[in-house]
Amino acid sequence: MSSMSPQDALKAQVAKAALSLIAPGAWVGVGTGSTVNFFIDALAASGLSLAGTVSSSEASSARLSKLGIPVFSSHEVALLDVYVDGADEIEPHGYMIKGGGAALTREKIVAAQSKQFICIADESKWVQTLGAFPLPVEVIPMAAARLIQCFEALGSQVQASLRLKDGQPLVTDNAQHILDVKGLEIHDPLAFESMVSQWPGVVTVGVFAHQKANVCLLGTPQGVRTLYF
Ligand code: 5RP
Repeated sequence: MSSMSPQDALKAQVAKAALSLIAPGAWVGVGTGSTVNFFIDALAASGLSLAGTVSSSEASSARLSKLGIPVFSSHEVALLDVYVDGADEIEPHGYMIKGGGAALTREKIVAAQSKQFICIADESKWVQTLGAFPLPVEVIPMAAARLIQCFEALGSQVQASLRLKDGQPLVTDNAQHILDVKGLEIHDPLAFESMVSQWPGVVTVGVFAHQKANVCLLGTPQGVRTLYF
């Protein structure tokens, strides 16, 4: 008997469904997180032969390599056919919040070099307006305190804090820190992403509007819904 939680069962379902959107011989960008881990496992089990993959984190690269799937670095491949990744939130235009796993910078880089972004998500990630999930922002450590002030100046309900791991600031694969920003309601994700991206010390903001999803495979108890944006 499987001990998988209902949410994990939905993640596994969409991860498997994504395989049908990948052609043999494709170059595949691979994201980061628990849904993507199901995707990597499904990819390995499928025996689908790929040209190769480019991954968005050390964790995903390690998982891919362990399962015998070839991993290349971003600069070795000009263009990827498809990028498959999860999301913390996705809304009806395909705009997303990402970075719950602290991999947002490389996720945006790999998404930018891909022809198509396929978001795989369980239905808990579907929202009408982005912002209930604390927005991850990768920052250069010396700018963190000032950037917390910049976010909190956006509204009295906004609170920003440094993400900790074992009591210390979490250090990303890029040797930077993460802020998590609560209390936002992001009504214009394109403008918000552009604005925050220009603040000195911001490496990457976890709003993916300019790099939005083209397709979302949304896991529901009734089956996988395929949404096009
Ligand atoms: C990692 C991400 C993930 O895609 C996001 O956090 C969703 O994760 P999960 O699939 O574990 O729910 O952006 O930086």
